[in-house]
Amino acid sequence: MVLYHSEVDNCLLIYASATLLYGGTILYRAKKNRVEKAIPFLLGILLLFALEILCFATLRSYLGLSLFSLACLIFCIYTPTQAMLPVDRKAVLITGSDSGIGHELAKYLDHLGFTVFATVLNDKGPGAETLRKTCSERLSILRMDVTNSAQIKDVYLEVKRKLQNEDLWGVINNAGIMGYTADGELLPMRSYKQCMDVNFFGPVELSKTFLPLLRKSKGRLINISSLAGGIPMPRFAAYGASKAALSMFSGVMRQELSKWGIKVVAIHPSAFRTGIQGNPELWNKEEQNLLDNLTPDVKKDYGEDYIHSMKTMLIHIPSFSASDFSPVLYDVTHALLAVHPHGLYTPGKNAYKFLLLFCYSPLWFYDFFMSKCMSPPSIPSALRVTETKSKN
Ligand SMILES: NC(=O)c1ccc[n+]([C@@H]2O[C@H](COP(=O)([O-])OP(=O)(O)OC[C@H]3O[C@@H](n4cnc5c(N)ncnc54)[C@H](OP(=O)(O)O)[C@@H]3O)[C@@H](O)[C@H]2O)c1
Repeated sequence: MVLYHSEVDNCLLIYASATLLYGGTILYRAKKNRVEKAIPFLLGILLLFALEILCFATLRSYLGLSLFSLACLIFCIYTPTQAMLPVDRKAVLITGSDSGIGHELAKYLDHLGFTVFATVLNDKGPGAETLRKTCSERLSILRMDVTNSAQIKDVYLEVKRKLQNEDLWGVINNAGIMGYTADGELLPMRSYKQCMDVNFFGPVELSKTFLPLLRKSKGRLINISSLAGGIPMPRFAAYGASKAALSMFSGVMRQELSKWGIKVVAIHPSAFRTGIQGNPELWNKEEQNLLDNLTPDVKKDYGEDYIHSMKTMLIHIPSFSASDFSPVLYDVTHALLAVHPHGLYTPGKNAYKFLLLFCYSPLWFYDFFMSKCMSPPSIPSALRVTETKSKN
């Protein structure tokens, strides 16, 4: 069959459009249904591509296109998706369920049919009250400060007593604080220690306490870390370092606990609208504490207006945070129920893109990009003086 130039062009256009359409559908479906095995999936895509070239080169007509479409359809239908375990009233423990992600997670998992042990800082607070009112009687509310060893032990005994002969399937280390955000040189040691206590030492002690129960059930240990724990971000020295420690703990425990059949997962959410950034009253207190702990030289070099400007980012956090928590809720559920959960989940806007950028671009580019994304509203006073002098 002799084809003229314009016919070849048209045919090429049709094949290109079909590739875009089918390729987009296959990738969207694969992401939505979480494809089970990445390598066979990629091999399948390559085979489809080879078939398309063959169809174009030999048939070039609607017959070729139909054959290619049929192959894409069959591939879509038979792409293996993740096998999930049944909920079956599996018992899970969540820390920090008073508010935010932990609170929503407790409600969501209860709604799905899990037996939830929701631990709260304040068992008489509004968060605990809402859980009592809105959740099933399977949900238990237990008071626990994750920095208090005695309370961790009490909760362990209470959970064991309530479970009787049942297993504990999952532990979700969610409780966390962000503390004040400022340049690492300015942050008082107290901020670093508080972040480490709540975000790292607490989850480690809780995990160690509950691991004997998880070894019995071959269950799941899930640590809610943060985007800031996977990539360096200006003004998150204390919070980011504590979350990085938690992520590293997750990674090592994942390797060590696999021999017991336990799956360990780290979750790195980006920004979700909760109360974690605090409120103006708290910021004023933290700022005063920061100023009280600075030496006169450091205070002079940075300047009080620069230090005051640190609050600007905290004020703006809600404006770029998502109010829909479902990406985190779905990822935690997947981590609990998938037969082969991932070691790392990155729910939320840009969480994965930022991680890719950090891992695969040169550091100078990543640092430049971050400085543009998160530049402070003012510059330190000593640098301003140097800049003016060099301009003059
Ligand atoms: N929101 C985000 O954008 C985001 C992004 C990445 C990662 N995360 C992580 O997600 C987790 C949940 O944060 P969130 O955003 O939902 O914040 P949140 O609303 O402040 O929730 C944190 C919860 O932890 C509790 N908590 C604080 N200190 C505790 C302690 N010592 N012992 C036990 N519980 C304690 C808090 O109790 P109170 O309510 O009484 O203070 C609160 O219920 C944290 O680990 C956080 O680092 C959040």
